[in-house]
Amino acid sequence: MSQVRNILVTSALPYANGPIHIGHLVEYIQTDIWARFQKMRGHNCWYVCADDAHGTPIMLRARQEGISPEALIERMAKEHQADFAAFRIGFDNYHSTHSPENQELSHLIYRRNLAAGHIVQRIITQAYDPVEQMFLPDRFIKGNCPRCGAPDQYGDNCEACGASYSPAELKNPRSAISGAVPEQRESEHYFFKLGDFAQILKEWTRSGTLQKEVANKLDEWFAEGLQEWDISRDAPYFGFEIPDHPGKYFYVWLDAPIGYLASFKNLCTKTPGLNFERFWAADSQTELYHFIGKDIIYFHALFFPALLQGAGFRTPTAIFAHGFLTVDGQKMSKSRGTFIKARTYLNHLDPEYLRYYFAAKLGPGVDDIDLNLDDFIARVNADLVGKLVNIASRTAGFITKGFSGWLAEWLPHPELYAEFVAAGESIATAYERREFSRAVREVMALADRANQYIAEQSPWMIAKEAERAAELQGVCTQGLNLFRLLIGYLRPVLPGTAEAAESFLKIPPLTWETLSQPLLGQQIAPFKPLLTRIDPKQIEAMLNEAKEDLSAKESAVVAAPPSANPHLQRDPIAPLIDYDTFAKIDLRVARIQQARLVEGADKLLELTLDLGSELRTVFAGIRAAYDPKDLEGRLTVMVANLEPRKMRFGVSQGMVLAAGPGGKYLFILSPDAGAEPGMRIK
Ligand code: MSP
Ligand code: ZN
Repeated sequence: MSQVRNILVTSALPYANGPIHIGHLVEYIQTDIWARFQKMRGHNCWYVCADDAHGTPIMLRARQEGISPEALIERMAKEHQADFAAFRIGFDNYHSTHSPENQELSHLIYRRNLAAGHIVQRIITQAYDPVEQMFLPDRFIKGNCPRCGAPDQYGDNCEACGASYSPAELKNPRSAISGAVPEQRESEHYFFKLGDFAQILKEWTRSGTLQKEVANKLDEWFAEGLQEWDISRDAPYFGFEIPDHPGKYFYVWLDAPIGYLASFKNLCTKTPGLNFERFWAADSQTELYHFIGKDIIYFHALFFPALLQGAGFRTPTAIFAHGFLTVDGQKMSKSRGTFIKARTYLNHLDPEYLRYYFAAKLGPGVDDIDLNLDDFIARVNADLVGKLVNIASRTAGFITKGFSGWLAEWLPHPELYAEFVAAGESIATAYERREFSRAVREVMALADRANQYIAEQSPWMIAKEAERAAELQGVCTQGLNLFRLLIGYLRPVLPGTAEAAESFLKIPPLTWETLSQPLLGQQIAPFKPLLTRIDPKQIEAMLNEAKEDLSAKESAVVAAPPSANPHLQRDPIAPLIDYDTFAKIDLRVARIQQARLVEGADKLLELTLDLGSELRTVFAGIRAAYDPKDLEGRLTVMVANLEPRKMRFGVSQGMVLAAGPGGKYLFILSPDAGAEPGMRIK
């Protein structure tokens, strides 16, 4: 074989504030297939990852659960690793960005860049929550849309009318954490001068190792000019404090990619002979690849190589970006039940199926990939069960029954075997180039060929004639050897099935090299089905569980334990008001006379409300929760003295009251029987 390569591979580090879902798995499965392939080829390949444990969302989620961030990230790390292990993601090391190695390396990289003049400080003005006493990231500011006035919109775009804007333009802005009106405050921040690296980054980009689409994207960014990057955040923050600047923390995206180095360093301390410098020194001869989603290219193709360069480390050999997962052609959706957690999948289906399906769909580009559930069932059943496993199940029984499990000493059709061996190079090239769908296609074409061979030879016919025993043993040995080759070729994709096949064939783990020699004159174990067909009911049960997860989660939000922070023990959005303020609200019983869909607004219903003495038109964001027909005739409660608000679709003259987190889970209030339209609520 050609020269042994030394390869370090990473997948992006999943955030520690949520579970692994099948979208994430596109990436971890893709990387794992590639790493397993390299190992099977005899290269030294190390695959490392870690949890991305820092940042405001993690800090706030821990607070909401009433636990420390350390306790939260420890629990998530366990869950993530259990999910990955079940999907047979074969990390050589799984670490955390909240680790001593990462702190040390982040400090080192920061200090070197600082000493080289690549870091500057500047005062900036930012939204500040005076109740929580913290600066607010954009996504933690809510308010009324500056265009349509819809309430409760996040810092950058309106879900009601689709407008996009900056948080400063929001009307009536509120902190999403405490409900307080944000102030503008000054703070000193640290900036990384990305522009210092423009030339180096351009050269690196054009060194031919980035995907075409990614290189084009980078050219756009170069043309726009490289902005200085704010790498600091003020306390309170869950992260690493900046050396010599108490109360200032590294922004999570600074230490996250350094987590790749930290995880590898941690692996080195556990692995004799593995040397950190050898892989990360500026003059390293080893290969370094980062698999990432297309949403985080900026960080990996600009900030990270620049930080490394500025600190005297090597830069990546290549960045491999992939697209996003859709389910049945649409973005994963909680309400459709297609936001499927890794664990939910595992409760119903074999992980090998998903590994196979993703492999069959993955190419080297950044196109999104679709999990079409009908196609998933059809493909797994036809290819894996109908074609691949079938080769063994049609031949193994004869060897067990007629020959006590002994394979023949020779192949009756060595030229066919040689043909299959020869196909291995093209399959290997496909894996190397991340053309997994091609690799799978070529293997399946060989599987068709093997099945055709067995059909032609018809061992079940030969078995009827006792004097043709040697021929029978030969044909079945041939069939099982073709099966062994195909399992070997698919081993990076189907490690679990391959292991089961190896124990059935009583052989050590297959490598590319061992495949060139057939397995002859040995005893094998009795055959057990390696994979079973998917029953569509399993898919249905999985989708139902995913939907249940959703309702459980929503009620959990309502019933969340009191926060560790005393300010958060009240409803976070509602500050205390005095009685007079309350008395100003004119709440009335109203009868919903008519409810209609609003064209161009998929969250709204237009309601005509009968207040006894007058009719009002109100636009309410309850379309996902109610069928308009079911509302007509019902009594409800409305705010009758809310300032009329002009919306894109008309003027809204008040507001109906509903409880719940939103979306499908909204419940409009109704008075008890006997109430009449127009009655005032006291
Ligand atoms: N923590 C950052 C990465 C830091 S790397 C130094 C992050 N985490 S993530 O949990 O949001 O995503 C982890 C990886 O999964 C990313 O590469 C992301 O692109 C990928 N995916 C997350 N959702 C995905 C889909 N729905 N489809 C495909 N990949 C997806 O980003
Ligand atoms: Zn709007």
